[in-house]
Amino acid sequence: MTDVLNIAAQFDLRSAPSSYRECSEGHINGTYFIYCEKGERYVLQRINTSVFKDPDGLMKNIIGVTEHISKKIEAAGGDVKRGTLHFISTKDGSVYYRDENGGCWRAYEYVRNVVGYQSAESPKVFESVGRAFGKFQMQLADYDVTRLVETIPDFHNTPARYRAFEEALCANAAGRAESVPDEIAFVKEHRVICSYIMDRMEAGVIPRRVTHNDTKLNNILLDKVTGKPVCVIDLDTVMPGSVLFDFGDAIRFGASSAAEDETDLDLVYMREDMFNAFARGFIGGLDGSLTDMEILALPMGAMIITLETGIRFLTDYLNGDTYFRIHYPTQNLDRARNQFKLVLDMEQKMPQMLATVKKYL
Ligand SMILES: Nc1ncnc2c1ncn2[C@@H]1O[C@H](COP(=O)(O)OP(=O)(O)O)[C@@H](O)[C@H]1O
Ligand SMILES: [Mg+2]
Repeated sequence: MTDVLNIAAQFDLRSAPSSYRECSEGHINGTYFIYCEKGERYVLQRINTSVFKDPDGLMKNIIGVTEHISKKIEAAGGDVKRGTLHFISTKDGSVYYRDENGGCWRAYEYVRNVVGYQSAESPKVFESVGRAFGKFQMQLADYDVTRLVETIPDFHNTPARYRAFEEALCANAAGRAESVPDEIAFVKEHRVICSYIMDRMEAGVIPRRVTHNDTKLNNILLDKVTGKPVCVIDLDTVMPGSVLFDFGDAIRFGASSAAEDETDLDLVYMREDMFNAFARGFIGGLDGSLTDMEILALPMGAMIITLETGIRFLTDYLNGDTYFRIHYPTQNLDRARNQFKLVLDMEQKMPQMLATVKKYL
């Protein structure tokens, strides 16, 4: 208990930390809300260094990006305090604190009067989330991507994810390959399209941009009263990438009719009303800065990121569940099947999805 407060006290807070509450949401970092003697609140987070192996590079990315966004908000006359994260240095001027066990901690201002959703309740909410992520990319459109470190190399390199699948299949470490022939066949049938995004990025047809890479609903803080998006958070995976990554992952997760591990596949499909709403918000938030090639590739982007995620779940199942946390033995397989069902549904709905995005050319 006192440990958390002792760590908080290492930072240059405006008054002494007096109590704290552990945040029950979030899956990657350990997050604590810190309450101080004079009423200030802060967020204290332990960086997950087994996922993010370069905390210096990571913090450099986040600070560069949030400072850039601050300037943009200021120039537009917006609310700089609430519109982006503000980091607090340690008392000796470092951007994070390393405890005696090697744990890395950072602190930032708590944004008040906000809520976060775990799942989109309506197309209306999903549209405003899309607008917020689109705006985030817009604010960073002129940020020099070469200043960014790749915090997780090859994060959305789908061909590399395919190769990892082939290696897992070959090694068959958990002895499970024989029991999942249909899922393996599904991945192999889709091998050719795995390079859809990478090929276009390498050819320069799809530009490199600063991307968020974790565009889940719960990474947007919304105003408690107005419901409007206030702040994009969880910036650890901000990296150079393609707009298709952010759009794709948001659709994969947020436009699905069911949870990621729903096993009744009849219940799993892509909701077109949600796709349309997010597309409207996201493209609108980018305010004309998307190229026609990017807009036209958005539906395929959503399908490829969904396929990639399914491949990652199946790979982990073959490896014996070494990466994704599971609550029962076949959960990764269930997740993979669920994602593949979404891919099939998106394949069928591709003409409608294309018709939707073409309206924005
Ligand atoms: N500045 C902030 N103000 C208020 N709440 C926050 C703030 N930052 C994070 N949170 C809350 O903490 C949760 C976890 O933070 P996040 O950075 O998303 O960590 P994780 O990587 O574990 O998802 C968020 O979903 C949000 O509810
Ligand atoms: Mg988060």
